[in-house]
Amino acid sequence: MSPGPAYRSFGTSWIEAPLPPVPPGEPASWLLLTDEHPVALGRAVALALALAEAGDEALSLPQDDLGELAAFVAERRVRGVVFLTGAPHAYHDPEDAQDLLLSVLSVVARLGPGVRLHLVTQSSGEPGLVFLRGLVRALAFDRPGLRASLVDCDARSEVEVLVRELRSDAPDDEVRWRHDVRYAARLTRVPLAGGVPAGPGAYAITGGFGVLGQATARRLADGGATRIVLCGRHGGPVALPGVDVVAVTGDIAEPGVAERLVAAATADGLRLRGIVHTPGSRWRAKVLGACRLHEATADTPPDWWLLYSSSAALFGAPGRTAAATADAWLDAFAAWRRSRGLPATTVNWGPWTADPLLDPMTLTEGLEALPAVLASGLPSVGIARLDTARVAARYPELTRRPFFSALLGEPEPPDSDPAIPRRPVNHA
Ligand SMILES: NC(=O)c1ccc[n+]([C@@H]2O[C@H](COP(=O)([O-])OP(=O)(O)OC[C@H]3O[C@@H](n4cnc5c(N)ncnc54)[C@H](OP(=O)(O)O)[C@@H]3O)[C@@H](O)[C@H]2O)c1
Repeated sequence: MSPGPAYRSFGTSWIEAPLPPVPPGEPASWLLLTDEHPVALGRAVALALALAEAGDEALSLPQDDLGELAAFVAERRVRGVVFLTGAPHAYHDPEDAQDLLLSVLSVVARLGPGVRLHLVTQSSGEPGLVFLRGLVRALAFDRPGLRASLVDCDARSEVEVLVRELRSDAPDDEVRWRHDVRYAARLTRVPLAGGVPAGPGAYAITGGFGVLGQATARRLADGGATRIVLCGRHGGPVALPGVDVVAVTGDIAEPGVAERLVAAATADGLRLRGIVHTPGSRWRAKVLGACRLHEATADTPPDWWLLYSSSAALFGAPGRTAAATADAWLDAFAAWRRSRGLPATTVNWGPWTADPLLDPMTLTEGLEALPAVLASGLPSVGIARLDTARVAARYPELTRRPFFSALLGEPEPPDSDPAIPRRPVNHA
């Protein structure tokens, strides 16, 4: 048993959070930036007009002059930088989503403290836009002075609500406007219960030769799996008692590998019961690999699909922007699939080793939670050991972030009341 608080389950919930009144003050200057998608440019023009109507000034800076950003912001006394994105379909391809991330990061790199960064999307649930929340969470640690926020509007929200959002300067950093009603994200505990072992059938694991992939394969074998297909770029022989173990060697992000994985799992008419996607820590393998699996299973969706994400996407983490954003894409992808009636669940795993934010868990502890995670019916569940008192002492500024404030202000529940059942369970 690891020392420290019990591991628990976490998630994000959205609460109605009306804006506070706009504080009185001088007219402000806002710098509006876009990634040059025509829809984004149109939104910037509409916002500029609405800001002018409210008495503020909207500024623009051509893409070629981005090198002058810091000086421009200081000279023009810009209160906030607003980055507006285009239509959701423009970011559906993972490469386009990654380009967007790089564009935003190049703005972040040039901004000094004292100016707030607002990312404005109209995502319609598109993972290639929703994943920007992972960047906001990472920036809360790495660039707290930016007070980065993500504001997602629906098509029915008027541009005036965005003007009020900017001018009121509310501390929420993940905001959704739906039919002109404002919601803000809060980190919450998620009670989990129940769950059933895997049972006979076929299972496929990408990253199946890695640490988590192997540990998950053992759980599935203990639970009665008939066949387990392991995928990695460099596979080796693996034996699991009583299980038909098949290796599919290849890069899951390359065309055809996911199809081979599915074909190997369903050979001899076996039913594909579950998929675990855990191929290392890079954007391409995670994100493009998930897209390939999505396409390869279009006609034969599995009963369940687990995607291993990280607590970096849910809580943020210092110095882990790459993991937070790729994993936030997986989280958003799971929600996107569910909105289409397809199975998908991400697990935002906390760390297994020493970490500045969270206490480490053992692999055994973490994997115990899988049946309950799947039974929850939620798109994403965080499993981590969060010592709220330690985190609040180490990162006091987090307690002022509404996203964290409720949880970090809460006493740790007693260990006798675990969020996750402790009876021996095999796996999902
Ligand atoms: N370990 C942790 O503390 C931790 C915590 C939270 C979340 N996670 C998440 O859990 C996942 C796995 O972690 P891990 O510790 O098991 O990592 P790992 O031991 O490095 O295993 C990753 C496996 O993925 C395979 N892989 C990499 N790229 C691939 C590709 N393009 N196609 C197919 N297979 C590929 C690798 O094998 P090849 O190189 O041979 O392909 C490797 O066997 C990661 O997504 C990580 O973000 C881990």
